[in-house]
Amino acid sequence: MGRLKIVVLYDRVLVDESEEAAAGDKAPVVRTLDKKEVEEEVAEALTKLGHEPVLYEIDGTTKSLLGLARVDCDLVFNLCESFADDDTADFKIAGFLELIGKKYTGSGTHGLMLAQDKAIAKKIFAFHGIHTPTFAKSYRGRLDFSHDLQFPVIVKPAREDGSIGIEFSAVVNSIRELMERMDWLHANFDSPVLIEEYIDGREMYVGILGNDKPEPLPVVELDLSKLPDGTPRIAAAQVKWGKGTKAYRDTKSAIAADLSEETIASLQQTAVAAYQALELRDYGRVDMRLKPDGGLHVIEVNPNPWLSSRAEFAMAARKAGRTYSQLIEEIVELTTSRA
Ligand SMILES: Nc1ncnc2c1ncn2[C@@H]1O[C@H](COP(=O)(O)OP(=O)(O)O)[C@@H](O)[C@H]1O
Ligand SMILES: [Mg+2]
Repeated sequence: MGRLKIVVLYDRVLVDESEEAAAGDKAPVVRTLDKKEVEEEVAEALTKLGHEPVLYEIDGTTKSLLGLARVDCDLVFNLCESFADDDTADFKIAGFLELIGKKYTGSGTHGLMLAQDKAIAKKIFAFHGIHTPTFAKSYRGRLDFSHDLQFPVIVKPAREDGSIGIEFSAVVNSIRELMERMDWLHANFDSPVLIEEYIDGREMYVGILGNDKPEPLPVVELDLSKLPDGTPRIAAAQVKWGKGTKAYRDTKSAIAADLSEETIASLQQTAVAAYQALELRDYGRVDMRLKPDGGLHVIEVNPNPWLSSRAEFAMAARKAGRTYSQLIEEIVELTTSRA
């Protein structure tokens, strides 16, 4: 492949620190950004590969969109997950890229939209015979459900990501707690609420690379067993973003150990099926829960998973024999080989 001019597209949300501080302890945990940002890592890898990367920030303004339309490039490496603090806007950015005629890495508008709407995604899984927890959806007083639910259940926004809105109190055991939690979510998020049967089990992630023949990467486990007693074993917001908290410190991802060949195969096959069912592209990560009896459930599918070299996806790619730069190159190749 020749030298390509590649725009590394990323989004920034400016957190109003005064507002955050004023909200005090009760504020839901928000995402914080790491020192070495993922876009810099991707750009460095692209430079190493002989390409010409240009960092471009979508800051939530129309101006940043118009500026992007004027940038000349061979390809956009799309790391955008939101627009103007709206986490549901990822597919709109992809749509904008399509309209201005830019080829971009990762899932297209369709895959991004299907994966984002967890209720729709679960209905598609059911069609394909992919196990996913039984659920109900509630939005503005309307309920959507097909089966009875058994407690405990987990109550979460149907369209957020990064465990936003998922605190440890999201797992509830009674109607009263359920109603309190739904009330809290309705007040804090303008999003349908998903009420899902809670799957007690281990947390497993399978990364996928490819299009015609998607390749499942080695299984990564987020070990939640060291969370304090009485805390549900979930990747709550604190586990993902609560730097300095015990929940953050005591949970770690690593290549899953002690799984039988058969379990690995079924996690990987399920992950590929879920990736294909939602029409994802180039790369993705499928999050599952593995029950003690070996049964598994797909919790969610992430198009364009976080590409930090320390995150689960790159970890799995490394285990499968790829350096970080090789992984980035492979994503670029998958994109450029697309008609
Ligand atoms: N039905 C469920 N059973 C058990 N744990 C769940 C369930 N749904 C979510 N979780 C836990 O909550 C975490 C975040 O949920 P998820 O739906 O992936 O939200 P997000 O899109 O914000 O990452 C999961 O990684 C898992 O630990
Ligand atoms: Mg998740």
